[in-house]
Amino acid sequence: MTATRGLEGVVATTSAISSIIDDVLTYAGYNIDDLAEHASFEEVIYLLWHGKLPNQAELDELTKQLAKNSVLPQGVLDHFKTYPIDKVHPMGAIRTAVSLLGLYDEEQEVMDEAANYNKAIRLQAQLPAIVAAFSRIRKGLEPVAPKADLGLAANFLYMLTGNEPDAVAVHSLNTALVLHADHELNASTFTARVCVATLSDVYSGVTSAIGALKGPLHGGANEQVMKMLSEIGDVANVESYLANKFANKEKIMGFGHRVYQNGDPRAKHLKKMSKELTAMTGEPKLYEMSVKIEEIVTSTKGIPANVDFYSASVYDSLGIDHDLFTPIFAVSRVSGWIAHILEQYKNNRIIRPRAEYTGPNKQVYVPIEQRA
Ligand code: SDX
Repeated sequence: MTATRGLEGVVATTSAISSIIDDVLTYAGYNIDDLAEHASFEEVIYLLWHGKLPNQAELDELTKQLAKNSVLPQGVLDHFKTYPIDKVHPMGAIRTAVSLLGLYDEEQEVMDEAANYNKAIRLQAQLPAIVAAFSRIRKGLEPVAPKADLGLAANFLYMLTGNEPDAVAVHSLNTALVLHADHELNASTFTARVCVATLSDVYSGVTSAIGALKGPLHGGANEQVMKMLSEIGDVANVESYLANKFANKEKIMGFGHRVYQNGDPRAKHLKKMSKELTAMTGEPKLYEMSVKIEEIVTSTKGIPANVDFYSASVYDSLGIDHDLFTPIFAVSRVSGWIAHILEQYKNNRIIRPRAEYTGPNKQVYVPIEQRA
């Protein structure tokens, strides 16, 4: 038995939810370019959960269900005030809050298809509310309740700021949510599948997935990209900054991918949005720095930008706190995690790979009084 580091190239399951073949990403056969251009995030949620795009009645029903289930249990809101909220990272806070949500859900331990779908709706609806409420409570502000007549992207921005967002911001966030919704068997999705394959519950699956997404090699990269842009400060400093990183053999956040060989198809959409939004907010410098970084990293290292690189300047242009970038990734990716959890339940077998043993053999037990 020989271990494959990081399970590179290992095909661990079958799935009909999304595919990455020859650098092309599709959700249930629909190319991400078409979905980014035309679809609402709600359409994509339906597509991931049902394997087909919704008709108007189906979309209206999903939108109604999400709006109806987006109010948080008071106990979850009160819980935010029990810990050092200004000292915890939002990803730790939402990991805890999602786990807590389960305790308030009467159906948490009910494992039939209807109950699991109800929990899917509640999780998708309440995660944006959790991120927004956390963001406001840590600033000493009261949470803002969602509006029944707003879509998920618009409601998130409304709950975050208390003001109705403009159409450009809503469209940009909607596109970003579409782009981040699912991505085959990435680390956090695989984590969710391993967890629920023991027949554990949906809340446990999503909580474990949030824990995996939190890491800087995965979802946490977008916040690290923003930190890098802030550290560099100006286009003139890009070259020396990167030379130093290269000399120290440090990874450049927002670049590279385990699966894509010639580039992440999502990056071009976020790059376009970054150009438009930074021009609108009068901060083209962030976009110009990003383009310069991309030019140098791809030409020097041959490593293309991934989904996290340009999303940083997009979210910054929307006025979102930098440590909320990964929670926004979670707000989108929870739709994919849920799709994979429901698919795992449908044709389940516990996921239990092997390990190549490299420890000592034939050890003889020695009583403690004879040990050095
Ligand atoms: C996401 O899997 C998914 O689908 C994830 C995701 C999704 O939608 O779910 O796409 C979202 O997580 C995107 C990735 C976000 N992470 C980052 O931007 C962090 C920086 N990237 C790297 O850490 C890395 O590229 C990974 C984690 C993305 C991929 O890791 P791999 O496949 O294990 O690659 P590796 O670390 O083995 O690198 C292979 C080589 C190494 O060179 P050598 O040591 O062999 O000489 O490429 C180099 C690496 O040093 N390399 C980089 C680099 N990424 C790889 N060098 C500098 N900067 C980088 N970013």
